[in-house]
Amino acid sequence: MQHRYTTKKYNSAKKIEPKQIEELKQILQLAPSSINSQPWKFTFVSDKETKQKLSEVSWINTPKVLDCDTVVVFSRINNLYLFEELIEQDLPKGAVDYYKEFVKPQPEEQTKAWFDKQVYLALGVFLSACAEMGIDSTPMEGIEPKKYDEILNQTDYSSLAAVAIGYRDEEDTNQPSKKPKSRRDIDKVIESI
Ligand SMILES: Cc1cc2nc3c(=O)[nH]c(=O)nc-3n(C[C@H](O)[C@H](O)[C@H](O)COP(=O)(O)O)c2cc1C
Repeated sequence: MQHRYTTKKYNSAKKIEPKQIEELKQILQLAPSSINSQPWKFTFVSDKETKQKLSEVSWINTPKVLDCDTVVVFSRINNLYLFEELIEQDLPKGAVDYYKEFVKPQPEEQTKAWFDKQVYLALGVFLSACAEMGIDSTPMEGIEPKKYDEILNQTDYSSLAAVAIGYRDEEDTNQPSKKPKSRRDIDKVIESI
């Protein structure tokens, strides 16, 4: 965690090994979620034309999307009927019953907020995995989710955030060797009882 940081400038000539991309896909597949609900989809975009389109709807993140190796879009399932169909296919009865009893009766927005939490947990797992594998990354909420959905042609899923991955430009001023990490004091955020 001392070495991971939000990369602001990528070396577009440096590519991630396909084997490592496959490992990252498996890591996301294995991410934990409440009742193993997996209310998500992860889209790996390395196609140049699609990256170009995404870069145009990525606010300050445009150069990162263009120069990184791959953009991974984190989406939550948006179609509650489809979600129920999937969990009825894949999960044990106890898990489905939990969903029907405790999650489903809430207003739709709250159920979707519960889905979002699961997706963000996978995002955290992903950032840690990249750091462990020596791959640089940029989590990005600074995107236009609806436009991402249009470009990715998705309606049953909604983009929440994206992560650019690749290798830093040696001049990136945000890297810890040039800009030490800044956090609140440990005793202000950790309590031991
Ligand atoms: C969910 C999330 C969204 C973020 N969105 C952006 C973004 O759109 N663009 C960006 O440059 N950094 C973004 N960041 C990076 C944060 O600003 C950064 O993690 C924080 O300042 C701590 O710095 P560090 O990651 O270098 O340790 C985001 C981080 C998270 C976790």
